Amino acid sequence: MPERHDLELLIKSHIPIIVIESREEARAVDMIRSMQLRLATPIFRWTVTEGLQRVDLVMDTQPFNAKPADVLGHIKSTRTSGVYMLLDFHPYLDEPINVRLLKDIAINYESTHQTIVLISHAFELPEELKNYSARFEFMLPNDQAVRKIVSEVAEQWTANNRKRVQADPQAFEMLVRNLSGLTHDEARRLARVAIYNDGAITDNDLPVVMKAKYALLSKEGMLHFDLDTDSFANLGGFSRLKNWIRQRQPAFAGKLPGVDAPKGILLLGVQGCGKSLAAKAVAGVLGIPLLRMEISALFNKFHGETERNLRESLKAAEVMAPCVLWIDELEKGIAVGDNDGGTSKRVLGSMLTWMAEKKAPVFIVATANDIEALPPELVRKGRFDEIFFVDLPDQKNRALIYDIHLRKRQLDSKNFELEKLAQLSEGFSGAEIEQAVVAAIYAGHAQQTTITTSHLVQEIRHTRPLSVVMAERIADLRAWAAERTVSVED
Ligand SMILES: Nc1ncnc2c1ncn2[C@@H]1O[C@H](COP(=O)(O)OP(=O)(O)O)[C@@H](O)[C@H]1O
Ligand SMILES: [Mg+2]
Repeated sequence: MPERHDLELLIKSHIPIIVIESREEARAVDMIRSMQLRLATPIFRWTVTEGLQRVDLVMDTQPFNAKPADVLGHIKSTRTSGVYMLLDFHPYLDEPINVRLLKDIAINYESTHQTIVLISHAFELPEELKNYSARFEFMLPNDQAVRKIVSEVAEQWTANNRKRVQADPQAFEMLVRNLSGLTHDEARRLARVAIYNDGAITDNDLPVVMKAKYALLSKEGMLHFDLDTDSFANLGGFSRLKNWIRQRQPAFAGKLPGVDAPKGILLLGVQGCGKSLAAKAVAGVLGIPLLRMEISALFNKFHGETERNLRESLKAAEVMAPCVLWIDELEKGIAVGDNDGGTSKRVLGSMLTWMAEKKAPVFIVATANDIEALPPELVRKGRFDEIFFVDLPDQKNRALIYDIHLRKRQLDSKNFELEKLAQLSEGFSGAEIEQAVVAAIYAGHAQQTTITTSHLVQEIRHTRPLSVVMAERIADLRAWAAERTVSVED
């Protein structure tokens, strides 16, 4: 196995600290143990629960060496050469003493030949130790390997049930794509989830598989998996945006080999005009999962270090690819002033770097209501494929939005004078139109009459749209957008 060979070479190449970032702890440990004869040096394994244990011989554990600083102190003082696998050591690198002890051990490498192998699901080594270290990564199965895994699981099911698995070829391929980014074991487990319930691979399995996959990856609460996507049919207007997305859809379905999938778009504009709804509809139309990044949670002290949170979220998104990464109200995260010790600046920097370098088909849909708060480097040309401006709906689109929301509530829009309603609600956002429809339904219900155009007219008359209250801000927004964005409408 080339992986084992590479790892062995790394251990033999006099690098004091090796970081293995993997969800396959057992695989990493077994692989290193299997090298014992060739390494010809003692191999130890440490966990905070069991302490240190020599594993190339049958030896008792040393529970007295369970504490992180104790085990490092012990390794440093014994000077026994060996490979020391420290499992889940990552939380303890917040302690300066542990960092220093690791550095001491690393500096002594040439005389002691002690290799520290840090094995955790995610690992960020402090700067002080980076010079002494190397990272090792397991390769994940490629599409061909995943296809083989799914076929094996199907064969097992067939053997147990004496029936063939019903597999729709397209659903089979979608399943294979959705299992990418997982380890062998994980892919096998999820293939069972898909096949064992009904002996078939169909479109219905995909949401369940995606949800299970997401649960495997995301332990923290920065990314939310939204099964609740939407369709373009429920989004009034946005004709140019809809065409733009439809044209690029083949790139996401893997039908344009050699063409990079689009990076992402920024939807900027007036509040309540359907930006969030559009983000959900984009995922629905592309037929890929929607991951919503919670910008405020990212910055929440309670969740720990912001930049690490961001990195882990972006990594999870890459594994979920192809997917839409929806960053709603972007300005809330990036716009924080200069009084946060530079965190928001660094987060913005990491975000931009990631956007520029990412290879996985993660399509970013960012939304923002406020431009003043957005740093200029974010809206510079080339960051996003396109910056779309979302304005208040015009007369024609207001009629469409009435139609959508009436039909959503089982009302026949043929019974309403949509043109008249659209005219009367000049300056209304989509959200305000929806509100008028809902309020009219309540009013009609209270009066025990069927609701008619006049109920809606009443509600419209009672509404003072935000665009009136915020006329000046909207004018500024339009002026800014005119030079830098394209409209979502043709
Ligand atoms: N263009 C539209 N078509 C249909 N419904 C709309 C539209 N714009 C707004 N709405 C309704 O208003 C709600 C709130 O809009 P939202 O997408 O949250 O606006 P934004 O994100 O721009 O502030 C939506 O969930 C939807 O029900
Ligand atoms: Mg919104």
